[in-house]
Amino acid sequence: MHLDILQTGALQDYLRRRGWLDTEEVVASVEIPGEGNMNYILRVTTSIRSLIVKQSRAYVEKNPTLPAPANRAVIEGSFYQEIQSIPMLASAMPLLMGIDRENNILVLEDVGDAPAYTFLYHSGQLLSEADTLTLTDYLSELHYHFATEKPGPIFTNQAMRLLNHESIFIAPFREDNGVNLDTVQPGLAELTMSCKQDVSLKKIVRQLGELYLSDNNQPQTGASKTLLHGDYYPGSWLQTTHNHLKVIDPEFCFYGPAEFDLGILIAHLMLAQQPSATINRVLTNYVKPTGFNEQLRQQFTSVELLRRLVEYPQLPLSLSIEEKRSLLDESRQILQ
Ligand SMILES: Nc1ncnc2c1ncn2[C@@H]1O[C@H](COP(=O)(O)OP(=O)(O)OP(=O)(O)O)[C@@H](O)[C@H]1O
Ligand SMILES: [Mg+2]
Repeated sequence: MHLDILQTGALQDYLRRRGWLDTEEVVASVEIPGEGNMNYILRVTTSIRSLIVKQSRAYVEKNPTLPAPANRAVIEGSFYQEIQSIPMLASAMPLLMGIDRENNILVLEDVGDAPAYTFLYHSGQLLSEADTLTLTDYLSELHYHFATEKPGPIFTNQAMRLLNHESIFIAPFREDNGVNLDTVQPGLAELTMSCKQDVSLKKIVRQLGELYLSDNNQPQTGASKTLLHGDYYPGSWLQTTHNHLKVIDPEFCFYGPAEFDLGILIAHLMLAQQPSATINRVLTNYVKPTGFNEQLRQQFTSVELLRRLVEYPQLPLSLSIEEKRSLLDESRQILQ
C-alpha cells in the first residue's frame, strides 16, 4: 500500500480492510495536516471522526533522492506501544490506533489542527509553566521507567541513529557545504567558520557523536542508559486547541543516554530565548535516573546549540548575530 492523497477510494478500502474504519464508514476528505519533512502524512476525515495516517518510505519525503530507513514508522509505532503502560506518557501523546508493519504505516489519533511549538523561536513567545512541567515530567517518567526495564532490541534503532548522527555531529561542521551563510544573516559565515575550523572542538564533537552511536552498556561511558524520545525539540510538540501539549514523532527513539534528551530540550529552550527561570525549572524538576551525568548533559546541549547555529538550513530563530556569537562562545567553552 502506497498512501496517496489522490486515491481516496483505495485509502478507504485499505483502512476498512485493516479494521481502522467501520464497514459503513465513508472517507469524506483527505488532507495534508501540517509540515512534515521525513514522512508522508494524511489526515483522513470520515462522517464520525478523523485519523492521522503516517507512512515512512525508503527515502525522505521532501527530498526523495535522500535514502532513509523504510521501517521507521514501525519503530515509532513500537515506541507508542511501549509507553502505553505508563499513563502519564500515554496521555501526553496521541493515541495509537494501529501499526501496519508490512507497509510501514501508523494510524494515530488526530489531535486537531495543532501548531508545533516552533512558534517559540519567534521573539517574545514564552513556554507556559504548565507546558514546561509537562515536558519535564514526560522525560522524567520515560527515563525512569526504561532505565530499570530495558526495552526490546527494536529500540537500538541504529539506522535512524546513523542518519541523525550525520545531521547533528558531522554535516553541520563540514567547512564547505556550498552555502554562503551570509545570505541567511550577515556575519553568520565568519561566525560559523571559526567553529568549523576548530580542530580540537570538532574532535570533542566527534567523541560525543561516538557516544551517541555507542551500544556499550558499561558504566564507564558515564551515561545513564534508558529509552529516549530522541528528537525532543519544539517540532515534536503540538499545541492542541485545549492548550494541551502533545508529544509526537518518536521516530528517532533509541536506548541511549538520558543526558541526550534533556540536553536537546535545554538547547532548544535557549535557542528560543526562554527565561532562565524556565530552564532552571526544567533542571530542578527533572528526576535524574541513577548515574545521570550533568556534565554530559551540558555537552549534548552545547553540541545541539552549535550545530543549530552553524547548520544550513537554519531553524527560524530570532537571534541577532551577537546573540548567536554569545551562545556559540558559551557552548565552545563547555566543550573545551
Ligand atoms: N496525531 C496528530 N494529530 C494532528 N496533527 C498531527 C499528528 N501527527 C502529526 N500531525 C501533523 O503533521 C505534522 C508532521 O508530523 P510529524 O512530525 O510526525 O512528521 P514527520 O514527517 O516525522 O516530520 P519531521 O520530518 O519534521 O520529523 C505535525 O507538525 C502536525 O502538524
Ligand atoms: Mg519526524
